[in-house]
Amino acid sequence: MDIYFIFEKWGKEHMTQDELKKNVAKAALEYIPENAIIGVGTGSTVNYFIDFLATIKYKIQGAVASSKATEARLKSLGIPIFDLNTVSEVEITIDSADAYNPYCQLVKGGGGALTREKILAAASHTFLCIVDESKETKIFGTFPIPIEVIPMARSFVAREIVKLEGNPVYRPNFITDNGNIILDVHHWVIAEPIKLERTLNNIPGVVCNGLFADKPADTLLISTQQGLKIIKNKLSG
Ligand code: 5RP
Repeated sequence: MDIYFIFEKWGKEHMTQDELKKNVAKAALEYIPENAIIGVGTGSTVNYFIDFLATIKYKIQGAVASSKATEARLKSLGIPIFDLNTVSEVEITIDSADAYNPYCQLVKGGGGALTREKILAAASHTFLCIVDESKETKIFGTFPIPIEVIPMARSFVAREIVKLEGNPVYRPNFITDNGNIILDVHHWVIAEPIKLERTLNNIPGVVCNGLFADKPADTLLISTQQGLKIIKNKLSG
């Protein structure tokens, strides 16, 4: 794992979380290749990125969106939308996360878009994750792990999670873009994220879970009060 610190001051001290999100979103523009089709995640950090992307929209062919909300924002700014099924390659996906560790592993899905986000990340040559330093986590479990579940399997999956010593909480009044429900699992202390991610994937009725450990981000851009910190996952080449 290569870690670089760029102590390039942001131009202001004591920034709010929103200001940190905005700065890292802007820094991601440097990673956008010319004429590419890019993947775009979901959430408030990514919304800032989309706004910056609009300023260079003529440089790219367009974007594949990870959610209906992202698609609407991209469209409103005149950025062409592509369906993943019609695209031969996605060069890079830019997304954020709810938690990250030093190995570029993530917890995602606070906004409920985890399934399409995981598909896009897997279908892209490079997965660039943009976060602020408040999301750093040594051992996952502090942020509840979202699990997208087929509605008829809700109780069964919840019982299976209890067997794994998690505390599943049904996310009220929320249906994913795929028509499913979310269970947020609290009180897990996750020592082996890859193992748990695979175990969850094997429960019938689970569509996807918010652990992005088996395939971590290739690069993490972290917005800190001191400046931009970059972690590159060497294993991803
Ligand atoms: C959505 C996500 C988001 O990336 C995650 O929730 C972070 O959101 P924000 O940028 O608003 O803090 O995984 O499913």
